[in-house]
Amino acid sequence: MPDTAPPPPDFASARNRRQRARAAGMDPNYWYAVGRSSDLRRGQVLATRFWGQDIAVFRGDDGRVRAVEDRCAHRHIKLSKGEVVGCKLVCPYHGWEHDGDGNVKIPHELFGRPEPKLRIQSLPVKERYGLIFIFPGDRALATVRDVPTIPELEGDDPWPHAIVQFDCEGHFSMLLENVSDFTHGFLHRKYQPFYGQDLLRVESYDDRVEVEYATKVAAGRLQNAFVRRLPTDRNRMLACYDYPYHWSNTDDRIKHFLFTLPRDERSNRHIFIFYLRPDGMKLPGVPGRLPRPVLRAMMAFARRFTLEPLLGQDVWVLGHEQVGWDRHHDKPAPELSPVVKAFQDLTIRKWQAYLDTKARSEAAAMRPRGRPAAGPCAEAPS
Ligand code: FES
Ligand SMILES: [Fe+2]
Repeated sequence: MPDTAPPPPDFASARNRRQRARAAGMDPNYWYAVGRSSDLRRGQVLATRFWGQDIAVFRGDDGRVRAVEDRCAHRHIKLSKGEVVGCKLVCPYHGWEHDGDGNVKIPHELFGRPEPKLRIQSLPVKERYGLIFIFPGDRALATVRDVPTIPELEGDDPWPHAIVQFDCEGHFSMLLENVSDFTHGFLHRKYQPFYGQDLLRVESYDDRVEVEYATKVAAGRLQNAFVRRLPTDRNRMLACYDYPYHWSNTDDRIKHFLFTLPRDERSNRHIFIFYLRPDGMKLPGVPGRLPRPVLRAMMAFARRFTLEPLLGQDVWVLGHEQVGWDRHHDKPAPELSPVVKAFQDLTIRKWQAYLDTKARSEAAAMRPRGRPAAGPCAEAPS
């Protein structure tokens, strides 16, 4: 029997929870991290995607980051193949210049015609916490919703932190399930990022799933040697799918934030920020709080030798989960964890709500002006 199946169903024709979660997108009306600020210098361009939409993000000579659709207004060549000149993104073919608002300037002969007013879509951009965020949805909402606040990374004494970024060949829901479900500790048995996995509670609210575990994090031999434990530590982790973000807090000392970028149906970029209380790290034989440069160096070490290899295991396995899904999406996949189910439900609920809102606003836009919507209470024309 061949081990292939027809392509997985789309969201509308999905027959069960897992199929719906794997076909869902993410609501574009939020801020999404696309990369590290330090990876985009002046004059550089970054090609990125949000749910199949190609986007070019570039930093002008003035240091400001801009984002436009990745399509030249002339013949639709990818602008990310071009170059940044001053504060504009220039197409490599005829040199048409696109500014951060999407306005186009044609630099060559116009054959006696007035220069046409052309425009491509631009997207709101913000930089915070060392990351670049774009708002791919309705730009009117970009001022209503903000990048989530991480107070520990602000102010004069921010917590030492490490950013870990991966491109992953798997639907974003696989990643969110991975970070929520500690039963996959087997995969990480070499690094032991957590010890114990007792699920104390899982509760769903409107846009949020809260999960509490009794677990000791950073339990591996290497990590444990550098994390300062206190007698008051309870080894309690609160983990939250705070749509569309994910974060955790262990004993108010070890925390993370996860930003997921759904590039398309089969791939995502995800960016973790791990941060520890400044007094939460130790060096054997060194008493008291460590100086900030030492903390920074220790976080860089942890990123290189623990976090990246550990999370690389997840990226590897999610690529294989995607292959398995593409081939066997019609076969049963017994799900034991209530956390995974709750995460899938939130993903599905939010995507359905987005689709419903979109359909309503498209229908409203189609209606002739001045005529009310037909409905059960609409008056019959006289
Ligand atoms: S195709 Fe881009 S300038 Fe002509
Ligand atoms: Fe993992």
